[in-house]
Amino acid sequence: MKYVVINGSPRRKNTWKMVKQAKTNLNGDFDEIHLMKEKIPLCNGCFKCIVESEEKCPHIDIIKPIVDKMIAADGIIIASPVYAMNVTGLLKNFFDHTAYFYHRPEFFTKKALVIVSTAGAGHKKVANYIDETLRHWGVNKVYKISIACGGKDVLDVSRIDKISRKFNRDMESNKLHNPKLGDIIFFDVWKAMALSDNPIEVDRQFWIKNGLANNDFSPEINLNIFKKLFSKVMFFILKIVIK
Ligand SMILES: Cc1cc2nc3c(=O)[nH]c(=O)nc-3n(C[C@H](O)[C@H](O)[C@H](O)COP(=O)(O)O)c2cc1C
Repeated sequence: MKYVVINGSPRRKNTWKMVKQAKTNLNGDFDEIHLMKEKIPLCNGCFKCIVESEEKCPHIDIIKPIVDKMIAADGIIIASPVYAMNVTGLLKNFFDHTAYFYHRPEFFTKKALVIVSTAGAGHKKVANYIDETLRHWGVNKVYKISIACGGKDVLDVSRIDKISRKFNRDMESNKLHNPKLGDIIFFDVWKAMALSDNPIEVDRQFWIKNGLANNDFSPEINLNIFKKLFSKVMFFILKIVIK
């Protein structure tokens, strides 16, 4: 298995230790990206990645190698401490640079592990925010480890082990999970926008080229009959709403 780790902590302390512990339970090779070292300038809000192409991002030289590693990986690990009840600015800036994945989801065959540390609060909320972002990107299944470290030097190793071992078993099963109803709704919202009368052209081409436009969900995933029907009805309604 190939894993890419995107670490949004500027330090090699709590979050870094959690990632290190989780890695001991995962069989594979790791490509570690410490966003602090990447020195990605702030997203300047030019919209080029969304409306023209991700290749037009002014920071493409830094962003593309990271995204290429994510695309080449089997599993994605995203780690962040809680800063002011959210992810760090480093990770948020990376998410801003990859906002086009909301429009053009790439990761239907990938699974992810989210790792969040905090002093005392916000860890569940922040892990859920990262989970939501990844599911908008199409990620098939997200596991979450979020721990309040407080002033302690000792980590809750047993929790890290329990969840990372579960993630490892799932990775090795090669099984793709059926999406939740919420994921199907996200899929149909973006599909209806990409295929609307007035779409963003790069989105329309992506949805057609990747075989998403003609499917009720990503073609690699066999929806059960109820979910197929649900997706068809949702798409029908959303097409009308978006029009
Ligand atoms: C700028 C900043 C903001 C923080 N905000 C919060 C917060 O809102 N809630 C909280 O419980 N801890 C907060 N913390 C504490 C960190 O989340 C916690 O110490 C974390 O484990 C640090 O991870 P690291 O060792 O990887 O840097 C904050 C720390 C910093 C430096």
